[in-house]
Amino acid sequence: MKVNQITQEILMEEVKEEWISLFLNTEDWAGIHQQTVCTYCNAFGKELNLSSEKLKELQIAGLFHDIGKLVTPNEMLNKPADLTIQEFQEMKKHTVHGYHLLQKSKAYRHLAEIVLYHHENFDGTGYPEGLKGENIPLFSRILSIVDSYDAMTSERPYSKGKTKVEAIETLQKQAGKQYDAKLVTLFINKILPTIDLNRSV
Ligand SMILES: [Fe+2]
Repeated sequence: MKVNQITQEILMEEVKEEWISLFLNTEDWAGIHQQTVCTYCNAFGKELNLSSEKLKELQIAGLFHDIGKLVTPNEMLNKPADLTIQEFQEMKKHTVHGYHLLQKSKAYRHLAEIVLYHHENFDGTGYPEGLKGENIPLFSRILSIVDSYDAMTSERPYSKGKTKVEAIETLQKQAGKQYDAKLVTLFINKILPTIDLNRSV
């Protein structure tokens, strides 16, 4: 299934709160990114044989993982250069902003923790809390991989984008450090080959 089909279905059925729809309807690189992450999450969830309820949860967490960036200054998101240390500290707060935004939502409060921890690293070096290993929620560990993979293979205002092979090598290098090694193997061997993004990756 293509990115648009999956996300359109979710948007139609699930996203009922107007402020969240606004976030999802953007057509810039960030909007495309969250839809692509959602597609990877869909494939991941199916591979893990999640119940339809849990699958939906993972898909929507994919769409919302960066919702905290609604609070991040726009010029920082689109800066065509590396962020300063101070800006990077500010950018990291999007995890906590996302948590608080979703906590306020009746329909999506249960996704707040998944979003909060999507930049935690398996070895405990991530943020915001430095959680380690399986203390990081499974869906956050999945998000970390698919978010990074799409970020690496996409062109951004601040970077040109790696090839698929280069991105896979980076995931493998970081398996057990930044990412859950078992999930990296699953992603590379089972998920990636099933994805039709309708764009070259
Ligand atoms: Fe993020």
